[in-house]
Amino acid sequence: MDLTAIAKVKEDGVKALEKASSLKEIQGVYNFYLAKKGAFQPLLAVLKDLSSEEKSQYGKALNEAKTLLSELYKKRLKDFEKTALEEKLAQEKIDLSLPGRDYKSGHRNPFWLIVDEVSDIFLSMGFEIAEGSDYETDHANFELLNIPPDHPSRDMQDTFYFDAVHLLRTQTSAAQAHEMQKRLDKGPIRIISPGKCYRRDDDDMTHSHQFGQIEGLVIGKGISMADLKGTLDVFAKRMFGAKREIRLRSSYFPFTEPSVEVDVSCAKCGGKGCNMCHGSGWIEILGAGEVHPNVLRMGGYDPDLVSGFAFGVGIERVAMLRYGIDDIRRFYQNDVRFISGFEGEERRNGR
Ligand code: DAH
Repeated sequence: MDLTAIAKVKEDGVKALEKASSLKEIQGVYNFYLAKKGAFQPLLAVLKDLSSEEKSQYGKALNEAKTLLSELYKKRLKDFEKTALEEKLAQEKIDLSLPGRDYKSGHRNPFWLIVDEVSDIFLSMGFEIAEGSDYETDHANFELLNIPPDHPSRDMQDTFYFDAVHLLRTQTSAAQAHEMQKRLDKGPIRIISPGKCYRRDDDDMTHSHQFGQIEGLVIGKGISMADLKGTLDVFAKRMFGAKREIRLRSSYFPFTEPSVEVDVSCAKCGGKGCNMCHGSGWIEILGAGEVHPNVLRMGGYDPDLVSGFAFGVGIERVAMLRYGIDDIRRFYQNDVRFISGFEGEERRNGR
């Protein structure tokens, strides 16, 4: 039995570990001595030829040598790692006196603030929100709303077609037909559907070829104009102030009968007449009416059994009145100065 080979590996190993001057070097020493196929491996191979007494003596020496080198390796490794960390920290010194970086957070467009606020008002009255699609069919956008191909009311809206069948919806009313069909035989309907619509129009301070609407639809037994008026009165008061009154003026829409325009008393002058309401004391906010029997029928409902009301309110219109915005184009120009002006509103709404 020859223990000198073990002693030699041990001695050389200790020397090499002590001499190593970098993390890389010490890793190399580890691989040479302590890794699986390192210098101890051939020494282990000798074991099998020894007697059991020699084996225990030899094995003990071997283990001691290995443990010694391992411990020394770990210690030195720790030292190197510590030094490396210290060096890194020294290099990455943070200068706390430097001014901070200003992270700009965006703000929601007042368009969406109004959508949320209007939605909250109607949700509190038991309405559900139904999502419509900007991409629509002529059928849902016009025909199911009692507007056949030759109807004159199309003239104002015949605009963005993809093909003979598909178009960019011209009114959120297109959601009515879908919801009626989807909810057939599932009890009364009480929905609002906010979204964008598109139609040829002047692009000026009060008109845009793209704008938002919130559609409302209620269908059930015995739903009357009184329900429409009561619901919209609550909406106007919650949206524009408890003192606001509404008035209904007779109007025409192909999908409602009777049809009305709904005005709200001017918030600025309280109804006396001022520049905001053009002297009338009233500001028009939406169109509405009792759902036309043809629309009910086409949606799968029997007008002798159920009735309903519908309304469509312009989102920008409401936002302009609510926040005193003078030009509809501001909603789409993406000017941060404009958008940031509504930061307070955003917080007030808790969003
Ligand atoms: N769709 C109408 C428009 O774009 C607005 C409207 C009027 C919607 C009356 C309705 C309604 O649901 O009953 O001008």
